[in-house]
Amino acid sequence: MIRSQITGCGTYLPARIMENSDLESIVDTSAEWIEQRTGIRQRHIVAENETTADIGEKAAREALAAAGVDPADLDMIILATSTPNNTFPATAVEIQSRLGMHHGYAFDMQAVCSGFVFALTTADQYIRNGSVKKILVIGAETFSRILDWTDRTTCVLFGDGAGAVVVEAAEGDGTMADRGILTSHLRSDGSHKEKLFVDGGPSTTGTVGHLRMQGREVFRHAVGMITDVIEAAYDSTGFTSEDIDWFVPHQANKRIIDASARKLGIPSEKVVITVDRHGNTSAASIPLALCEAARDGRIKRGDIVLLEAMGGGFTWGSVLLRW
Ligand code: ACO
Repeated sequence: MIRSQITGCGTYLPARIMENSDLESIVDTSAEWIEQRTGIRQRHIVAENETTADIGEKAAREALAAAGVDPADLDMIILATSTPNNTFPATAVEIQSRLGMHHGYAFDMQAVCSGFVFALTTADQYIRNGSVKKILVIGAETFSRILDWTDRTTCVLFGDGAGAVVVEAAEGDGTMADRGILTSHLRSDGSHKEKLFVDGGPSTTGTVGHLRMQGREVFRHAVGMITDVIEAAYDSTGFTSEDIDWFVPHQANKRIIDASARKLGIPSEKVVITVDRHGNTSAASIPLALCEAARDGRIKRGDIVLLEAMGGGFTWGSVLLRW
């Protein structure tokens, strides 16, 4: 059986760090309020001339180097982003060109904070049907560009960043002892649109728009949706929370992560946290957290790793893999 294995990881965080205390001079907030309600202490913000393609390319190059894969050997690129450089063409195509790749194909995937889980699941489908062998999956976001910097209920929550992985086809036995992606589950429900959306777009206002969110409503739905797709992962693999070596959740809010882990019975020592330093980087948050834990030696070969995300749409999903 063909399995999709992650063979290399890369990350990039913009140089500029914005502390919670820096936000006190922008909106009516306090550093303590932000940390207490969200777990966030700081976030990275892109420079004026820095784009999603720039930071995505940096993470991509690092992932390719780590995997020992040349762009010439890649079959495709999927970029998960809600903050593309342009309405079209896809920013993935720009990154493809910058990597000197003129073959294969590249496209963007838009599932907001669930973008990386959607992109990784899509990559897994292409690999398992045998049509391609090497895929670059990137999550890159410049949410600082779509925030309303006068709205204290949203601008304190998000940050910019990029993470990338190389996914390669490998032979497996078809058992849960295989390395690679073992199962994935995606969901969406557009009836929740008004709870988290951007109030602009090419076909409506002709502007880019700003992020709008009913934070309490998002919070209310998040834990149930997250546990739904994790229980689906357990049902299809036979694993339980006791089998999970590392839980790498989307990094929206420490309270959502803690509540989900508690509900599932996953101890806090097994939860990878970056939201304190990165804020919510949307589609970039999982690859940033996954790559950090893989590089510092927490995630080891053979470990069972559980990824989950929930975001605008609503969209939500999980990926369970053996590293
Ligand atoms: N500083 C100070 N006060 C604030 C701030 C701020 N930055 N933001 C809101 N407040 C005030 C509110 O105005 C309100 O005041 P009021 O009682 O006088 O009306 C008070 O704080 C409490 O507001 P709540 O919205 O009830 O605060 P809550 O504890 O729910 O925390 C938060 C707000 C952090 C947004 C929370 O609801 C949350 O985390 N929701 C999840 C949303 C999220 O993480 N979204 C990310 C995108 S989706 C995803 O990635 C899953």
